[in-house]
Amino acid sequence: MSQPQVVALTRSKSPAIPRNCTFDTRDWEILSRYWHPVAFSADLLDKPLSVTLLDEPLVVYRAHGRVVAARDVCPHRGAPLSRGWVHNDQLVCPYHGLEYEASGRCSHIPSQPEGPIPERLCLTTYAAQEAYGLVWVSLGGGEMPLPDFPAWNTEGFQQILPPSIDIRASAGRQTEGFIDVAHFAWIHHDSFADRRNPVVPQYSVERRENGLRAEYVSTVSNFPKSMQHRAPEGYLWRRVFEVDVPFFARLTVHFPENGRLAILNAASPVSARHTRLFVPIARNFDHDLPLDDVYAFNRQVFEEDRAIVELQCPEDLPIDRSLEAPILADRSSGAYRRALGEIGLGQSYVR
Ligand code: FES
Ligand SMILES: [Fe+2]
Repeated sequence: MSQPQVVALTRSKSPAIPRNCTFDTRDWEILSRYWHPVAFSADLLDKPLSVTLLDEPLVVYRAHGRVVAARDVCPHRGAPLSRGWVHNDQLVCPYHGLEYEASGRCSHIPSQPEGPIPERLCLTTYAAQEAYGLVWVSLGGGEMPLPDFPAWNTEGFQQILPPSIDIRASAGRQTEGFIDVAHFAWIHHDSFADRRNPVVPQYSVERRENGLRAEYVSTVSNFPKSMQHRAPEGYLWRRVFEVDVPFFARLTVHFPENGRLAILNAASPVSARHTRLFVPIARNFDHDLPLDDVYAFNRQVFEEDRAIVELQCPEDLPIDRSLEAPILADRSSGAYRRALGEIGLGQSYVR
């Protein structure tokens, strides 16, 4: 597929650490270089949206048909621009009506239409783009490539966008939970797995430049309990996990009869303790079944994860693996933590 176009850029200088930043400063700077999802494209209509990424309040909106992201603070007197509106592709501040172009430059001051426009009346804008049904923002200039999710744009695959899920936990803990195969029998006993089938067969993990690839073959069905009769007795389920640091994880599940289900676990770090999880799904089968059933199953599975991930301690993912007690089944999470460590995260992750 072609890479989505980056539509609003950029600042060359390093972004400022937000007020009330909950991350370690170095971690924040590293995370700011990557792309993170902040909203559904379909929710971005004619009104600006208020979202938060890495503790930075953002306004996102459309101008000239493109998505724009800026710091949600008017440089005039600090009002939130997300409470304003878009008029003729200009973002209008609700307090004194100043208007801003997509570049961030102020274009109109209603109280002094003929007067000069000070240069300092300029928004802090960020790189933004749309892909996989989501709006992605990079606070640090958007120089890193957005990881690929090829199934999304593959012919014959249905695109499904379940609602997002807010989790009171770090994005690292959530992402590691997504690739953890040893918890299926326990946490997902009610939805698709079985406590009587807890053994994790040997599986392979390969480190990649930006993360890892793990291939896991087991008898754990990926159908909801009510549909498990659809797989032949003893069917071996192949699950391929591919992670791009920091929080982008693709899972491809091989269903019977060449069915493929691709799930993108896109964990957005709202703060160090709050994650907004987006889960675009693409599949090449069951196109005629109601999507409400997919949403309900997806919600059930991720709620099961949420219930435990929100309770893990410490809240941050310990990059130093000696701080916890890994077992053999944790091969993929070990590789994930190493990959996070290699980009410099976690020097003071545990607080
Ligand atoms: S605070 Fe935005 S126009 Fe005054
Ligand atoms: Fe899970």
